[in-house]
Amino acid sequence: MYLIMSLNLLQRTLYVTRSKSISNLSCRGVHLLQNKAFINGKWVGAHTGETFDVTNPANEAVVGNVPDMYVKDACKAIDAAHSAFYNERWHNSTAKERSALLKKWFQLMETNRQEIAQIMTAESGKPMVESLGEVTYGNSFVEWFAEEARRIYGEIVPPPQANRQIMLTRHPVGVAGLITPWNFPHAMITRKAAAAIAAGCTVVIKPAEDTPLTALALTKLAEDAGFPEGVFNIITSSRKNAATIGELLCKSEKVAAISFTGSTEVGKLLYQQCAGGIKRIGLELGGNAPFIVFNSADIDKAVTGAMNSKFRNCGQTCVSANRFLIQDGIHDEFIAKLLEKVKALKIGDGSRDGVQIGPLINQAQIKKVSQFVDDAIEKGGKIIHGGQRLSKHGQLYYEPTIVTCLRDDMRLYNEEVFGPVISVIRFKTEEEALMIANGTQRGLAGYFYSNDLNQVFRVSKLLEAGMIGVNEGLISATEAAFGGIKESGIGREGSKHGIDDYVYIKYLCYGNLQ
Ligand code: SIN
Repeated sequence: MYLIMSLNLLQRTLYVTRSKSISNLSCRGVHLLQNKAFINGKWVGAHTGETFDVTNPANEAVVGNVPDMYVKDACKAIDAAHSAFYNERWHNSTAKERSALLKKWFQLMETNRQEIAQIMTAESGKPMVESLGEVTYGNSFVEWFAEEARRIYGEIVPPPQANRQIMLTRHPVGVAGLITPWNFPHAMITRKAAAAIAAGCTVVIKPAEDTPLTALALTKLAEDAGFPEGVFNIITSSRKNAATIGELLCKSEKVAAISFTGSTEVGKLLYQQCAGGIKRIGLELGGNAPFIVFNSADIDKAVTGAMNSKFRNCGQTCVSANRFLIQDGIHDEFIAKLLEKVKALKIGDGSRDGVQIGPLINQAQIKKVSQFVDDAIEKGGKIIHGGQRLSKHGQLYYEPTIVTCLRDDMRLYNEEVFGPVISVIRFKTEEEALMIANGTQRGLAGYFYSNDLNQVFRVSKLLEAGMIGVNEGLISATEAAFGGIKESGIGREGSKHGIDDYVYIKYLCYGNLQ
């Protein structure tokens, strides 16, 4: 009892401390910190009144609480989005009007960059510099799709008969259900929602339970931008209700399309649930990215690329390099240079200046990372650096780690670690590297470093992934098509192709023309 009271007291104290730091935002815009969901243009709680806490992974302090919604609440959001889609005001909106609303949203997000980033760091543990980077990245999707909205063209196709005209026109599919992850709490929402809205859809967003506050901050700015009621809806729930809400979105006849970013396991489940209604689905799922360094590579550039790819968001990124394949001739030099950089990483609470590595998101994540490393050690992996939790910083910190001698029976080889662990395999030939790199059912991203032009062309062609970094470790860009092959997903986000998931093509055959 005493322990529980002390814990409560401690938690309250932490909450006060944290709310003070968040309320520092108040001078510049505390209105972004919301504790309600948003349905049909109104801020609402769960019908039961239940809420759940959102905690800071850096110190487990409570940073806010949001409604713990159920299927009944989600139905209201779907109904609102459905009516809004058929409401004349939205249905007949022009591309120019939708573009203007998205531009307004973008401008408000730009004005509030700092506050959004602070909220993001507080709930995700991401270092401030990365949160600001994500705000730039996330905002850029809104700007991009504001521009693309006006270029959703149709086609006039030469007909096979002289008295016919063939027209192909593109139309919004209807309500889009967007299920987004915790690792990019801003950009994964805007990459989907801005594309859907540009196309003329209405949206119901279900953000991850670990990071709903960033999502609600963006929603507040969407409200301020003036989207009509029911166009932009967001529902929050804890883990206990997430699966049933996901199932509802996939099975509801009022939802026309689903877009999901997250694990392959959950993606497969949602895909099955969408099958009953032949529902359109976009999936951006897990990877197992190879990062190959050939003998001809510029080693310094490869080391920089490796650091950028691996340690972005503490390794909790779908496109993070997962298996490092280093050719025999440069293996030892590459590892020595990499080790120097890894040792220099500054670890700690992401809100502190200069921190590069924050905590992992939650207990499940740190447990998984520890288990993967322990499994590798048991099977003969060699720890060059790290390999431990860093409890002196907090419960969720894991040391940046380098493991060599990776083997194909290890979890680090076969599964996505989603943590700050570099796993290294030494190889001899290009064929061997390609065989290892492609020997997985995942195919999201791949990276390789080589200065041999013929090798660059050969490997680019043969590497099985939706996205490839050639002498580059950071490939994400609004203008590029983001997505995977094999079990890493279906569809593309960002770029001009990002609209495709939210429109259908109507074929109009004008016959018997005089
Ligand atoms: C992800 O990890 O899901 C997305 C990362 C990115 O867009 O770069």
